[in-house]
Amino acid sequence: MSLSSIDGVVIVPVLTAPTVSAALVAGRALARGGITCVEVTLRTAAGLESLAVLARETNLLVGAGTVLSRGQVEAVAAADARFVVSPGFDDDVVNATRSAGMISLPGVATATEIQRAVAAGVETLKFFPADRLGGLDTIRALAAPFTGVRFVPSGGINNRNAAEYLTHPAIAAVSGSWVVPADAVAAEDGESIERIAAAAVATLEASGLPTPRRVG
Ligand code: 3PG
Repeated sequence: MSLSSIDGVVIVPVLTAPTVSAALVAGRALARGGITCVEVTLRTAAGLESLAVLARETNLLVGAGTVLSRGQVEAVAAADARFVVSPGFDDDVVNATRSAGMISLPGVATATEIQRAVAAGVETLKFFPADRLGGLDTIRALAAPFTGVRFVPSGGINNRNAAEYLTHPAIAAVSGSWVVPADAVAAEDGESIERIAAAAVATLEASGLPTPRRVG
């Protein structure tokens, strides 16, 4: 499966949920705010079940984040994840993800890692942590030799810089937690999350960039 399956998604919220209930409130709020996709991280005990519930109860394209092992790939496939994100690049995770029919979005931080990912047949890559690695300037430099690669920068993305990242043709989407702040998620404050999500969508609309749309 190629990443073209999620073409049209330009914001990938990174949701770390303390409880399944909080995840459901956040997911529904994202959808009301015009977001079409969510990455649910496995950083909490509630992560896996949250993913399964969001996949079942919302129209969002739901993926798994912070996936570090083949076992976790198998678990998130069973929970109906459509894509798998990792902070770094691991052949085993990528191969298991693709074997299970899910979209693989491994993380890279260097030219060497990009080269390994390309050799493994993955050309859409999370660039993490984007702000700490030099942001768009670094992506511009890396995109020059890797002409087929598309990047999803993550780490330090917000409403002030998202549109600028997305102006570069090598940027497939932006990813981050700014649309699902931890305090609002924990407080099950769906109204705030909806407002923040809608503001993110409006920022992109105002920039004349493609806004999120329903996928699949
Ligand atoms: C992550 O995987 O933690 C993402 O990169 C989110 O980073 P952010 O919290 O800076 O948006």
